[in-house]
Amino acid sequence: MCGIVGYIGHRDAYPIVIEGFRRLEYRGYDSAGIALFDGTDLKICKTKGKVADLEERSDKEITKTGNVGIGHTRWATHGVPNDVNSHPHLSNSGDLVIIHNGIIENYDSLKQELISRGYTFQSDTDTEVLINLIEDVKKQENVKLGHAVQIALNQVIGAYAIAVFDKNKPEEVVVARLGSPLAIGIGENEDEFFIASDASPFLEYTKNAVYLEDEEMAVIRFHKGIKVRKIKDDSLVPTYVQELQLNLEQIEKGGYEHFMLKEIHEQPKAITDTYRGRLLRNEAIIKMAGVEDNMKKFLNANRIIIVACGTSWHAGLVAEYIFEDLARIPVEVEYASEFRYRNPVITENDVLIAISQSGETADTLAAIKLAKSKGAFVFGVCNVVGSSIARETHAGAYTHAGPEIGVASTKAFTTQITVLTLMALRLARAKGTISSSDFRQHLLELEMIPKKVEKALESDSIIKQIADIYKNSTNCLYLGRGYNFPVALEGALKLKEISYIHAEGYPAAEMKHGPIALIDENMPIVVIATKKGHYEKVVSNIQEIKSRKGKIIGIVTEGDVQVKELADHVIEVPETLESLSPLLTTIPLQLLSYHIAVLLNKNVDQPRNLAKSVTVE
Ligand code: AGP
Repeated sequence: MCGIVGYIGHRDAYPIVIEGFRRLEYRGYDSAGIALFDGTDLKICKTKGKVADLEERSDKEITKTGNVGIGHTRWATHGVPNDVNSHPHLSNSGDLVIIHNGIIENYDSLKQELISRGYTFQSDTDTEVLINLIEDVKKQENVKLGHAVQIALNQVIGAYAIAVFDKNKPEEVVVARLGSPLAIGIGENEDEFFIASDASPFLEYTKNAVYLEDEEMAVIRFHKGIKVRKIKDDSLVPTYVQELQLNLEQIEKGGYEHFMLKEIHEQPKAITDTYRGRLLRNEAIIKMAGVEDNMKKFLNANRIIIVACGTSWHAGLVAEYIFEDLARIPVEVEYASEFRYRNPVITENDVLIAISQSGETADTLAAIKLAKSKGAFVFGVCNVVGSSIARETHAGAYTHAGPEIGVASTKAFTTQITVLTLMALRLARAKGTISSSDFRQHLLELEMIPKKVEKALESDSIIKQIADIYKNSTNCLYLGRGYNFPVALEGALKLKEISYIHAEGYPAAEMKHGPIALIDENMPIVVIATKKGHYEKVVSNIQEIKSRKGKIIGIVTEGDVQVKELADHVIEVPETLESLSPLLTTIPLQLLSYHIAVLLNKNVDQPRNLAKSVTVE
C-alpha cells in the first residue's frame, strides 16, 4: 500500500522525506512525489516510477529547501500510475496540499457536488477530491485548517491516512487516520516532528512516537506541539507517547543482497526470540500472558475461527492441524476477505484468532470488527507492535520476527507457526489432551528448531543449482500431506509472487482428481516427503508422478533413501516431529523461490503489483 512521510521542524525536509521513502518503498511503488515549503514558495515534484526517478526530477525541477515537507510513494487504486495521479495533490486555490494512503469510497458523489460548485480536477484520484472538499469547507465555514479537515472527514466514507498543510500557515501540519496506519515521531524538546506510515522513516532521528488511533486526527504545530482530537466530535484525546524498541540496524540489509534473503537467514533468531520467555522447558511449562489471562475463553470455546490473508492464512492452516491434533479444539480457517462478507454464523462462544504480519491488512481488520460485533472473543497474532490489528483485538501475542521488509513473507510465517504451536500446546496441557511426555518432547523439539533451521539453510548452494535448472519453467506444482499441505501452498505462493512463474500447491492425494493431467517432462513438482506423517503414501504419489515423467524435487528427512532413488533432486531437512515439520520444510521452499527469482533478475524485495501490507480491500 502507499507510504507517507512528512517533516516539520528546523532541518531541511527534503533529505528526511527522501530517505524515509527508501525505508517505506516496500509498501507501494508505482509513483512518488513531494511537496516542500520554504516560507515563500510551495514546491511540488511528482513522477511515475521509483524514488530514484523522483530524485532525478527534483534535481531539475525544484530547489530542495524548506522546513516543511510531505511525500508519498503510491500503489495505485484510483487512477492509473502516472505523473498527474501521483501525490501530493493541490486544492484548486493552490493553497492546500495533501498526501493520502487509503481509498475514499464515496469520492464520486463528493466530486459531482464540488463540480456543481465550480471545482475542477486534474487527476482521476479520490485524494484530489478530498483536498478540494477540505478547501470548500474551509471557505464555506470560515474555519481553521484543522477544523476544516475534521468537518470534511465526517463526510467521507472509506479508509485514509492523510497529511495536509496550508502554504499560508506553514508552521502547522494536520494529519488524520481511519483504517490506514499513521505514526508521528517527536523530536527532542518537541522542536521537530516526523509523520510516517510506520516508524522506520524516523527511527534514526527519534524513538518517541505517537500512533494515531482509528478516527483520530492531530494538529502538529512547530514549536507548539501536538493536539490529538476525535474526528467525530472534535473532542481532545490525551497524547500517548511510546518509546520505540526498534533499532536502525534491524531495518538495514545487513550485508545480504536482498531483505528477503536476510529475513530467511534471520529465522533461527526470530524463532528463538518468539519462544523466549514463553517456552520454559526446565519447568515444562508454556507461559503466554494473552492465553493465560483468557484461558476460560479458550477452554469454553465451541470452536476457533482463524482469519487471515495470504501467507498468514497458510500459517492459520498449519494451526488448524495442530490445534485439532493436540488440543482437540475444532478449528475453521477463513480467508478474511470472504469471511467478512459471507454473513458467517458467529457466537459469543467462538474464539477468533486473527493472524497478520503487518497488523494493517484491511480485510483481516474488518473480519475482527465483525466478530467483535457478534460478541466473539478475538485474539491477535501480529508482528508489528502497535499496529491496528494489535490494538483492535481483545488480547494477543506478538511474533518477535523483527521488521519484515521483503514483500514476500518468510520469517513472519515461521514465527506465526511458532506462536500458534505454543498456544496449541498450552491449551492441550490445560485440557489434558496431551500426555506429559508428549508435551515435554514437543518443548524439547521446539527448542531445537532454530538449530535445525540453521542446518536446513546450509542446503542453500544445492538449492541454487536446482533453481538454475528450473528457472525457465512456466509452471510448477507443490505437493504435501497433513501438516505439510499448507507448506506446499506457501511454497507455491512464494514462487508465484517473486518469480511470476505460475505455481499451485495441492494435498498430494488430490492430484489424482485432476492436477495429474498437468504432468509431463516439463513440469517440476516439489514434493514434501518427510519421514513422519504420511511418508509411504507420499512415496506412492511420487511414483504416480514418476510414471508420467514429471520432474521431482523431493524435500526429505536427512538420510532418506527411498525418495532419493525416485526423485530427480532431493533437499534434506533435519528430522523433527510431524507437527513441527512445517518450520523446517518451509525453508528450502523459500530459498528455491528466492534463487529462481534472482536468476530471473526479478525485483525480489519489491515484486511487481504487490505491496507489503494491503490496507484497502
Ligand atoms: C506474502 O508473502 C504476501 N506478502 C501476502 O500474501 C501477505 O501474507 C498478506 O498480504 C497478509 O499480510 P499480513 O500478514 O500483513 O496481514
